[in-house]
Amino acid sequence: MKRVAVLISGRGSNLGSLIEAAGDSYKIIRVISNIEGAAGLDRAQAAGISTQLISHKDKSREAFDAEIDAALRAADAQIVVLAGFMRILSDGFVRGWEGKLINIHPSLLPAYKGTRVHERVIEAGEALSGATVHFVVPELDAGPVIAQASVPVQPDESPQTLADRVLAVEHALYPEVLRLLADGKVKLHNGLAVFS
Ligand code: GRF
Repeated sequence: MKRVAVLISGRGSNLGSLIEAAGDSYKIIRVISNIEGAAGLDRAQAAGISTQLISHKDKSREAFDAEIDAALRAADAQIVVLAGFMRILSDGFVRGWEGKLINIHPSLLPAYKGTRVHERVIEAGEALSGATVHFVVPELDAGPVIAQASVPVQPDESPQTLADRVLAVEHALYPEVLRLLADGKVKLHNGLAVFS
């Protein structure tokens, strides 16, 4: 059973799905938020998971990342899951967790990195969008893809309706991928997600 820490900044609905799906493969042992009062912290506490607030305010990126890293090591985390964590992590931090650090992004990467994803997808007239779970590398939203799930974009779609439907597939996809990673069935090898 792998010890998993989850980093959040907000609502924590993906965290909720990871908590609900936790079984024999992984256990969420710590939830860290950089935002005070993030709703995800309440979700974690309600599930009996220890939480920690590490603010990014008034410190350098490196100092903030060093604090997160120390907290993760102290908690004996083996896998780190980003779930709506709205900070860019420094190269040093990312390298230190290589192959053990994953993120979910609400688009079919490499398309639509960054923010305002659903607006841009609709503006571009895409027929398909979705969600991607990837290993984290230093460049934003650029890591090796582990798995994707797609949703059709409806003709009358608004950014909110599309966001809701993508989020629903995120909630199914993320726990599946975390289980595979925890079980050693997917690994980062030479810059690729390799399945066994
Ligand atoms: C999700 O859409 C995720 O893809 C993105 O941030 C959002 C987080 O939502 N990285 P939640 O906090 O898990 O509800």
